[in-house]
Amino acid sequence: MVSPNRDMGYDVADYLAVQPAYGTLDDVRELVAQAARRGLRVLLDLVPNHTSDRHPWFSDPARRDWYVWRLEPNNWIANFGGPAWTYHAGLGRWYLHSYLPEQPDLNWWHPEVRHAFDQIIDFWLDLGVAGFRIDAAHVIVKDALLRDNPPARSDDDRFTVLRGQRYLYNQCRPEVHEVLRRWRSLTERRQPPAVLLGETHVQDLSQLASFYGRGDELHLALNFAFTLSPFQASSLREIVERTLDMLQPLGATPVWHASNHDIPRFPTRWCEGDRRRIELALTLLLTLPGTCVLYQGDELGMVDARLPPGVGHDPVGRDRARTPLPWDEGPNRGFTTGRPWLPLDDATASVAEQEADPGSVLALTRRLIALRRQLGPYRPGQSSQTSWTYWRGTTRVTLDFEGPAASIATP
Ligand code: GLC
Repeated sequence: MVSPNRDMGYDVADYLAVQPAYGTLDDVRELVAQAARRGLRVLLDLVPNHTSDRHPWFSDPARRDWYVWRLEPNNWIANFGGPAWTYHAGLGRWYLHSYLPEQPDLNWWHPEVRHAFDQIIDFWLDLGVAGFRIDAAHVIVKDALLRDNPPARSDDDRFTVLRGQRYLYNQCRPEVHEVLRRWRSLTERRQPPAVLLGETHVQDLSQLASFYGRGDELHLALNFAFTLSPFQASSLREIVERTLDMLQPLGATPVWHASNHDIPRFPTRWCEGDRRRIELALTLLLTLPGTCVLYQGDELGMVDARLPPGVGHDPVGRDRARTPLPWDEGPNRGFTTGRPWLPLDDATASVAEQEADPGSVLALTRRLIALRRQLGPYRPGQSSQTSWTYWRGTTRVTLDFEGPAASIATP
């Protein structure tokens, strides 16, 4: 969508048009059609928590109340650091931004904001997209009284301790569920129903489970307790088994992902580029029950790029995980005949190279994807601090984090 790119597309200035650098609405139609021919469906990333400060809504006097204003700031902090409030000299008031000052938060208590997003969702579903990843899905509705957050306690999760306050009033408010149910009903009017995948950045697994509602909210809620766990058998096993215990009674589908565009890639973060650890992590991701989300490059075991100083676009330094895929050994590693938006480095073997090698990470990923369709229910097996065995029906998966080594025994 159209964006001044202060936060690479997460600051939207027009929800109903394509960023000109990427093409036109007709190109989206063509993409959807070509994908369908290959058995693929296309999801879009939808950013409902905030717009760009360049969105016409933000400067429209008739739409002042579409944003969150205050005469004095409260103690909330922005996710990119600093206070979550910026003074608007023209209006003599402060506006809320959970991220950059150029990303003012929308006021989700306002019925017209809700209505505007119904129309945005319908617009893209009419165009043929199969659903949405909902950005910051847990953040959108704020406390109606905008109360101060309480200080963190030493027994809080490490992220809360680090930022020094509990996000009690600026996220996971009970009213967010009304909005999710509203969107779910929009998706269900479609045939086949569209899918909602939430970026639900919470550590508490019961909170995570709440976003599935009673089968009437998100279809899939990204599990950041798993993603941000240390790469240790005992920690990952505990999170996975607690997640399954929470979700199974709801009939909800768990989601596992280990990389995304905001954090270092798992082959770097979890595996320090070690090939056997990368294989172990992919085996885990692709043999757990539920849905697996691979970030572009995970299938190649792609590590973070080494970028020369001063190169990059992101205000908070996430570029190393955002460099393009290496397709082959040609110029710009086959990604573009133009100038790539970030440099490609040569630390990861290209798609072409890996396709020619049956022992490659890509070949393993493909074997695992073929296998996962045949796997039965999860059952824990023998485990220790450093190793984890589980069954999927009659298939046994053994992950030895010390080795490191992964093995799969099929009957
Ligand atoms: C989400 C996105 C991230 C973005 C932020 C603000 O966390 O994944 O890239 O910066 O929301 O929209």
